[in-house]
Amino acid sequence: MSFARYKQYIEDGDTIILFLGFDNTLSIRVSKGTISQTRYGALRHSELIGRKYGSQVHCPKGYLYVLYPTPELWTVNVPHRTQILYSTDISLVTLQLDLRPGSVILEAGTGSGSLSHAFVRTIMPTGHLHTFEFHEQRAEIAKKEFEVHGLSAYVTAVCRDVSKDGFGVDDDIADAVFLDMPSPWPAIPFAKKALKKQGGRICTFSPCIEQVQKTHDVLKENGFEDCSTVECLVRNFDVRTTNLIIPDLGDDNNDETSKMEKNQGQNSLSENSSVDSNKDETQNDKTGVKNEANNSTSKFPSYNLVGRKVEDNFQFKSGVAPTSMPGHTGYLTFATLYL
Ligand SMILES: C[S@@+](CC[C@H](N)C(=O)[O-])C[C@H]1O[C@@H](n2cnc3c(N)ncnc32)[C@H](O)[C@@H]1O
Repeated sequence: MSFARYKQYIEDGDTIILFLGFDNTLSIRVSKGTISQTRYGALRHSELIGRKYGSQVHCPKGYLYVLYPTPELWTVNVPHRTQILYSTDISLVTLQLDLRPGSVILEAGTGSGSLSHAFVRTIMPTGHLHTFEFHEQRAEIAKKEFEVHGLSAYVTAVCRDVSKDGFGVDDDIADAVFLDMPSPWPAIPFAKKALKKQGGRICTFSPCIEQVQKTHDVLKENGFEDCSTVECLVRNFDVRTTNLIIPDLGDDNNDETSKMEKNQGQNSLSENSSVDSNKDETQNDKTGVKNEANNSTSKFPSYNLVGRKVEDNFQFKSGVAPTSMPGHTGYLTFATLYL
């Protein structure tokens, strides 16, 4: 009973997440008297009860951390009965469907319930999720999982083919509809009926662009507007330090031409920006770098073209974009039904 309300201490019956290392987590249901095997050896559940979420637990061969099961952690630990939605797509779906506490959502299909858990967290405590799955066994497992996670008050999980039979809910009750199924278009007219009179948002998730094309056609036929399709990818940048060796262009004090240029520069500086070059040989230049390089013979340091002292290397950090963008999961198509 740990998903519905945040709490500090682990109780018997809680589903918790074990953090075993980077990218290595595991979900277990705490049950007094049970022993789970982990890579660090046996973990006695009775030792977990009463412990604070986030604390370190020692096993015979190492230690792990016990974490509160957020929807994000559940998504990476959910037993896969189907393909699932991951947090990257879920974040955009939540934003674009304008979900908030109190929202009423229709979802089909339930699949493994990854998205459903995130939906429930967003719409609690006054909203409701109606989720539909036509695969009997999957629908049953999902329903049981919601119960075990203490979410039954916020979710109604139904075994139903929404393409054939619609959603079976009252008309005008939903703020948003989400469809993750191979052929979402037959469900669109039913979604329209279920959306509130004042309008609402719909989203479909489809891996192939042909599904998207068909969905757009049917959305338009049913009076949906603002149709748009996006793909949500995480673009990680590598942060790299680049070291540029600044070329030494020679000692300009021995160069007659540069001496002349320097004198000209000196004159124009004194005329135009009122810098009194006789005042102080270590005076800062405009870049704020002290004149230390040539203070015996010149009032100007030896700077290269980028305005740095010659003896310095030029180091900077920059983000390097990936050359390719793997990670396609599917296209998210959003549309609005207006009043
Ligand atoms: C990819 S899964 C959904 C995964 C889910 N979004 C998640 O995050 O766990 C698609 C599910 O839709 C169900 N489905 C397909 N067509 C359906 C229909 N007409 N009515 C109800 N469920 C349907 C499938 O049985 C399958 O379980």
